[in-house]
Amino acid sequence: MTISINVLPGVGAEILGVDIAGGLDSGELETIQQTFSQYGLVFFRDQQMSETDHINLAGRFGDINVNRFFSSHPDYPQIAMVSKEPDQTANIGGGWHTDHSYDHEPALGSILVAKELPASGGDTWFTSMYKAYDSLSDGLKETLEGLSAVHSAKHVFGPQGGYDTGGSAEGRIGNAGATLELEDPIHPVVIKHPLSGRKALYVNAAFTLRFDGWTVEESAPLLAYLYAQAIAEENITRFKWQNGSVAFWDNRAMWHFAQNDYPGQRRVMHRVTIAGCALHPANC
Ligand code: SIN
Repeated sequence: MTISINVLPGVGAEILGVDIAGGLDSGELETIQQTFSQYGLVFFRDQQMSETDHINLAGRFGDINVNRFFSSHPDYPQIAMVSKEPDQTANIGGGWHTDHSYDHEPALGSILVAKELPASGGDTWFTSMYKAYDSLSDGLKETLEGLSAVHSAKHVFGPQGGYDTGGSAEGRIGNAGATLELEDPIHPVVIKHPLSGRKALYVNAAFTLRFDGWTVEESAPLLAYLYAQAIAEENITRFKWQNGSVAFWDNRAMWHFAQNDYPGQRRVMHRVTIAGCALHPANC
């Protein structure tokens, strides 16, 4: 097999001609690392991944971050179950977000493996925070460079949060009390990406509360403007899952959005998340 890269319009790249479950040789690993660093989002097709293969693959890129809020696989705690049953109405990740910005050391990224797919629908959309930053005027970039933002998980996973009220994910999320122990982190609004060195916008609609030193009300209009820029059509890739598909995204450079358009059908995905580092000063 010869490894090759197919760059996608919007964002991301498909890596072809590699068996990621089979154990990567050093050349394959380097190609994947370089492509991941350059594009922030890579896809693989036609893979046969066992749970152990999945965990081992993630381990080639860093330590595993065991999710505190999602149900985990009964036999493999490192795997978060991202699933929706036919009788459930809400899905996990059904809004634009980046994972773990509520942590002081946000996760590097996640590897998502399709296990059971609906007959149609259930695509995942991705958008690039590099492109979002690049699209801004020099004046706004300069203003944002001086800002930091407060992020939190409490309003999402905490008591009375969107998930804890039993509405959003209907029991697939738990441990709400754990959010109360989290101190809300402050991250720069523009980061110098630890892998690529490129500048990326680092705020997101799910977990960013406000600019540091600003009120929620003062922050809302500028955040709304940035969020609209971030989802400009030309920044987006819509990934259609097939059996054997795998996505690996960088949480510091991408947002994602799991479409919830398959009522009455089951969708089961396994997610392993790789630990990251503090973004200011970047220490990884
Ligand atoms: C997520 O990790 O937010 C869910 C992604 C998906 O299910 O496609």
